[in-house]
Amino acid sequence: MVIHKYGGPEELKYEDMPEPVINQDDVLIRVYSTSVNPIDWKVRQGMRKEGTQRSFPLILGWDVSGVIEKAGSGVTNFKIGDEVYGRPDTTRNGTYAEYVAVRAGEIYFKPKTTGHALAAAVPLAGLTAWQGLFDHGKLKPGQKILIHGAAGGVGTYAVQLAKWRGAYVIGTASGKNASFLKELGASEVIDYKNEHFEEKLKDIDVVFDTIGGETQANSIKVLKSGGILVSTVGIRDMDALKPKGLHGEQYMAKSLPDQLKQLAELIDAGKIKPVIAQQLSLKEAAKAHRISEEGHTRGKIVLNVKN
Ligand SMILES: NC(=O)c1ccc[n+]([C@@H]2O[C@H](COP(=O)([O-])OP(=O)(O)OC[C@H]3O[C@@H](n4cnc5c(N)ncnc54)[C@H](OP(=O)(O)O)[C@@H]3O)[C@@H](O)[C@H]2O)c1
Repeated sequence: MVIHKYGGPEELKYEDMPEPVINQDDVLIRVYSTSVNPIDWKVRQGMRKEGTQRSFPLILGWDVSGVIEKAGSGVTNFKIGDEVYGRPDTTRNGTYAEYVAVRAGEIYFKPKTTGHALAAAVPLAGLTAWQGLFDHGKLKPGQKILIHGAAGGVGTYAVQLAKWRGAYVIGTASGKNASFLKELGASEVIDYKNEHFEEKLKDIDVVFDTIGGETQANSIKVLKSGGILVSTVGIRDMDALKPKGLHGEQYMAKSLPDQLKQLAELIDAGKIKPVIAQQLSLKEAAKAHRISEEGHTRGKIVLNVKN
């Protein structure tokens, strides 16, 4: 599925493209499944133009689970036939395709206990949650964390990982997701449509924000002095953190094989699980974008490329 220009979901076209050429450090992966992340439709809309050289036709999608078909001469850690997963470089052509060229240093063996569809729902969102909680949020057992967007692609991993780490987990979501999030590991769920979390909570150690705007601004009120605000969508006003001595962390998640390994091990041990809202075929990418853009997906939308 390629786009020839920025625009709406209708710009996604099902077309033949040449097989990607691999560099010395790349592997060529036969894509079995990919999954949709908001970056896909943000790039499609042209929101991420600055600082990134993209050329058309452009293949979107930056999650993959599949099988290695070719390996560059410099690749020593994988061989043809290995089942791998990962989040390829978002500045290169992506994974809405039968084949993708990926640096071998950005992937890991997929979880053994899942098929490719579930595995493809892990890398981008799982890495984002891991890095937000542990690398940036420094989350420790016994701490209180507030996770905004808890029912989303990133949030469902964040809830499970925070619980696994031994934190007390509070999530925000609409009321329909309350019991689902409690099953995933949240101790409290606040219905953002009917309740004001800033009136109910205080002394929070870490806020993990995947929403931004007013939700982010109000989060400052519930953090304890010296607490950490971690955001996947950027921090609008760093100065607002100063009076309470808060620490702000905004970041772009990296593709780190060691973390993909830890995520795969947690999945294989049954400690965390990918949450799949819907599985569609690659040709249905435009439909998947329309659903994702509504902003109320529970977990992830998977696009299956090969059965
Ligand atoms: N910096 C990075 O490296 C990075 C990486 C990944 C993602 N991101 C960004 O992080 C954001 C979240 O990504 P995602 O994949 O988790 O998105 P997503 O799956 O589309 O998130 C959808 C979820 O957001 C919830 N939601 C919507 N409005 C809410 C609100 N006001 N309060 C609480 N929950 C609300 C919805 O819950 P209800 O249905 O219950 O309303 C839904 O479950 C996106 O903007 C994405 O671009 C950044």
